[in-house]
Order: sequence, then C-alpha cells, then structure tokens
Amino acid sequence: METTVQDPKRSAGRRAAEMVENGMTVGLGTGSTVWFTLERLGERIAEEGLELRGVPTSRDTEGKARELGLDLVGLGDVSEIDLTIDGADEIDGAFRMIKGGGGALLREKVVAAMSRREVIVVGANKVVERLGTTFMLPVEVVPFARPAVLRSLVDLGCEPIVRQAGPEAAFRTDNGNEIVDCRFPEGIAEPEALEAALAAIPGVVESGLFIGLAHAVVIGTEDGGCEVRERDS
Ligand code: 5RP
Repeated sequence: METTVQDPKRSAGRRAAEMVENGMTVGLGTGSTVWFTLERLGERIAEEGLELRGVPTSRDTEGKARELGLDLVGLGDVSEIDLTIDGADEIDGAFRMIKGGGGALLREKVVAAMSRREVIVVGANKVVERLGTTFMLPVEVVPFARPAVLRSLVDLGCEPIVRQAGPEAAFRTDNGNEIVDCRFPEGIAEPEALEAALAAIPGVVESGLFIGLAHAVVIGTEDGGCEVRERDS
C-alpha cells in the first residue's frame, strides 16, 4: 500500500506523462517522482501504442526505462528534445530550482538546455519562497580539485559537505565526479549571482542551480490531485 508521502509524487509524475505526444523525443529526468512518469509512459506504450524516443539523464533512469519498455537514444542521436520531464528538490515562484539530490544534475542540465519544453514534477513540499532553505545545493566537482573547491565554496558563505557513498568512500556521479552539498544558513539570496560565481570556480563541473530552464511545473497534492503552473515568459 502506498504511503501518503508517495501520493503527491505519483499524481504529478503520472499527470506529466499525459503531456507526451506520439513521435516525441522525450528527456527522461531522474528520481522517485519521475519514476511514476516512466511507469505511466510504459502503460501508454502498451495500451495505446504511444511511440517516443527517450533520452535518459542517468544510468538509473536508463535501466528503469528499459525495464518498462521505453525506446531510448543517446544525446548524439538527437539535435533537439521536444519535452523533458524531470523532478526537483526545490522550486521557487520564478521557477528557479535546486536539483541534484540524486546526483544526476550535470546530465539533467545538459538535457534541459536541449529541450524545447521542460516540465518539472514535484510534491507541494518542494515549492519554496527562497531556494536553499529546505535543501542543500549540490555542486559536481572534479575529485582532483576538491580541496581547492571546498575553500572557494566556504568563501561564498556556505558550509560544504562532501557527499558520501559509505563510511570511507565519496559518492561518485555517473560522470566519475564527486558531489559537494552546500548548506547556506540563510538560504540563497541571489541565485543568478551564485550560479555565475560557482561556474567561475576551477574544478566545479556544474551546480544544481537551474535557472530559466523550467517552463511548467506539475505540483502533486496530498489528496492525489495536482496543479499545473506555466511560467509567465
Ligand atoms: C536528481 C534530481 C531529482 O530530480 C531530484 O532529486 C528530485 O528527486 P525526487 O523526485 O526523488 O524527489 O535532481 O539529480
């Protein structure tokens, strides 16, 4: 039996799957909410013969999508993506996001940037007034550069914590890099400026700040329903 915590994710994830049209190239995000999107897409393929080409944003999603019968292609096989459906760890009123809780932020951002439309699926608990208040900001870092990057991150006013895969081992992304989770005591006051500052640090591969990439958000609610919000511009 599903818990109430899973219900908002399920309704949001499945609702977004209904936005996929026949013949589309679809970016497939990563995470537990997107899993429900994949599940519904698998059902639509079986029930109505829906045809799509999926571009996975992680090895995890690739494996799950294959199990569910989705056709997959690599980035080299597409020049543009019609629609990407992805999750988020936080999203604010300007559709700015923190992503990377699952460590897939680099591939997610590459796929988002190639997408004509990016739809975000979240539970209502992910909608925040200010980014960084409920979730740490993940930053993907080249392992060799970690000590220098950590010093630079402290200079930016955060407490950086190297994500661990176990007691002795740092977490590694699909790209072989590490993730540093950054805690900002007061949240992130200026996301655009912070994104630029992070991009300027040698050894930082990408940050989990996603700005100007989401076009719509599907917000699941505790009663199993959902609300679709479109970005103004
Ligand atoms: C992975 C992500 C996910 O989209 C984000 O962590 C949300 O995951 P979930 O749907 O499991 O809450 O950015 O890198």
